[in-house]
Amino acid sequence: MKRSIHGGAGATVARALGIDPAQILDLSASMNPVAPDPVPVIGRHLDAVASYPDPTTATAALADVIGLDAERVLLTNGGSEAIALVAADLGKGWADDCDFALYRRHLDVLDPNAARFRSNPHNPTGRLAGADETADVWDEAFYPLATGRWTRGDDAVVVGSLTKLLAAPGLRVGYVLADGERIERLARRQPHWAVNALVCAALPELVAAIDLPSTAGRIATLRNDLLAVLTEAGLQPRPSDANYVVCDDASERLLAHGIVVRDCTSFGLPGRMRVAVPDERDLARLAEALR
Ligand SMILES: Cc1ncc(COP(=O)(O)O)c(C=O)c1O
Repeated sequence: MKRSIHGGAGATVARALGIDPAQILDLSASMNPVAPDPVPVIGRHLDAVASYPDPTTATAALADVIGLDAERVLLTNGGSEAIALVAADLGKGWADDCDFALYRRHLDVLDPNAARFRSNPHNPTGRLAGADETADVWDEAFYPLATGRWTRGDDAVVVGSLTKLLAAPGLRVGYVLADGERIERLARRQPHWAVNALVCAALPELVAAIDLPSTAGRIATLRNDLLAVLTEAGLQPRPSDANYVVCDDASERLLAHGIVVRDCTSFGLPGRMRVAVPDERDLARLAEALR
């Protein structure tokens, strides 16, 4: 059985094992374990698919919760589109080998002296950058879950993702935070109607339902519980500020119990796995599997 080389491989694994995807516990993609169920909210906005999307209201709603002018926010089709747009705008840039793979994928020219992309907290280690550390582009896909704040707020360009926070990878919603001039340039580069009508209609309600400080606090408690389970299993978890933890590899053992984690070989960390912080019920299943 092939292990997960990128997150979110639960459905593929279920197909390969010939079992119901609902039986898989997917701890490979690191979603917010305490997110409100997004489906009822989306369900209230299904009629939006009959019109072309207009992101104006949703952009204003997101800008409002972040505390920025709407001119400084661009909604995107997931964090991945935000990364692709910023990388294309910069042309050349740099990202470490052991950071999230999409920066290198979308940069035309890799130049160690050019603008540097960094994930914060780092993916896969989960460590937050120190206050004195810098980047030209911060990827804050997991920042709100780690800190309870929307953004670090320095001068760098920010690429963000609501995928993790809303636990809605199929919805496809992310953003760029930058000065108004860059946002205008990126908007001109963005394909028309990139952000779908369901996102445009449901986002104000979805973000209004998020209490960031409480979310981050609950995740910190659940992360400590996960660290205890992994330690008891002898897997030497590394310290993390995020909603995922890196530890020694036990992915084959977990797969036999229908639990999928992220193999860290492609991050340059062979022999390790990244495990999403689960909620209480899923943690009990993980602990049982490790026993
Ligand atoms: C660090 C990081 N940034 C960005 C993304 C992209 O997220 P999405 O395109 O689903 O919003 C991911 C997805 O795994 C990620 O791990």
